[in-house]
Amino acid sequence: MSLEIDVPVLMHAPRSVRVERIQDETPSIRSFWFSDATLHHARPGQFAMVWVPGVDEVPMSVLAIHGHSEAGLVIKKGGPVSVALWDKKPGDKLWVRGPYGQPYTVGHHHRLLIVGGGTGLVPLISLLVHLRGREITLITGARTASELLFKDWLIRESKEHNFKLLFATDDGSYGEKNQVPKVVEHVLKADKFDAIYTCGPEPMMKLVYDLARLKQCHMQVSLERVFKCGLGICAACVIGPYLVCRDGPVFSERELSGMPEFGHERRDLSGKKVPLGVGH
Ligand SMILES: Cc1cc2nc3c(=O)[nH]c(=O)nc-3n(C[C@H](O)[C@H](O)[C@H](O)COP(=O)(O)OP(=O)(O)OC[C@H]3O[C@@H](n4cnc5c(N)ncnc54)[C@H](O)[C@@H]3O)c2cc1C
Ligand code: FES
Repeated sequence: MSLEIDVPVLMHAPRSVRVERIQDETPSIRSFWFSDATLHHARPGQFAMVWVPGVDEVPMSVLAIHGHSEAGLVIKKGGPVSVALWDKKPGDKLWVRGPYGQPYTVGHHHRLLIVGGGTGLVPLISLLVHLRGREITLITGARTASELLFKDWLIRESKEHNFKLLFATDDGSYGEKNQVPKVVEHVLKADKFDAIYTCGPEPMMKLVYDLARLKQCHMQVSLERVFKCGLGICAACVIGPYLVCRDGPVFSERELSGMPEFGHERRDLSGKKVPLGVGH
């Protein structure tokens, strides 16, 4: 009896990669770097499905900005999957598949505002590197200075590639003592942009989206939902008429206007609708 192997199925089987280096980025965020030529070609905003055998599989943004085949995952320590990933050491295996999803698109837009919070900054860092040469303002924030992700790298990069960088902290320990959407509001009063790109906590993105609509500014938002297949098959990630894993995670303001759940509701692991902010 011959064993037939279905090639499309194999394409989506998790593959193992070996962690080559690990870096502490903040007290609660760590980056893991490995070689994978496929993920190295992920476009800004695309994600990988990362499997921890015996625990679960979750989506993670891919950071591919160094070398010829290097890719990185930037992981915030929280629940079971992220804690299991945090325990990895150089030489340990990770299981990944992808990249999947629709990336950010920029087209002819030149004056760009990039707004990131927490690990939401990860796809925006890829975008920033791809957009060198355009007129960029980047705003990011955290509760306190030590939690500002990629702070030193961003400062160096902003000097070398000449973009405007604004930090906000809730406690005023670095940058402006303010919430990110308030800084965005001030910047939008003073300057005009062709497009806004954001990723981070959904309440923050909703406030930025409302400001962009007032200014009639083009906008793209990267959404986070529960993903199971990551391929557009299971509908775990449904929002309005869209599947976030297949049609997103990046959506335009036109698509967002057809999603009444945006900024208000999501589905939990069982598929039940729950208010944003309620745990998995
Ligand atoms: C497109 C996209 C990109 C993301 N990029 C990053 C990133 O770069 N860095 C990062 O730290 N996080 C990222 N996340 C969030 C990540 O997928 C998890 O939600 C996060 O790691 C929390 O998992 P946890 O194990 O800490 O547990 P908790 O948040 O406590 O959740 C408990 C359990 O629920 C399940 N679960 C949680 N979230 C998901 C999910 N989204 N899909 C399926 N099952 C889930 C897992 O079993 C998890 O262990 C991204 C999410 C999406 C949708
Ligand atoms: S996660 Fe299965 S359809 Fe999106």
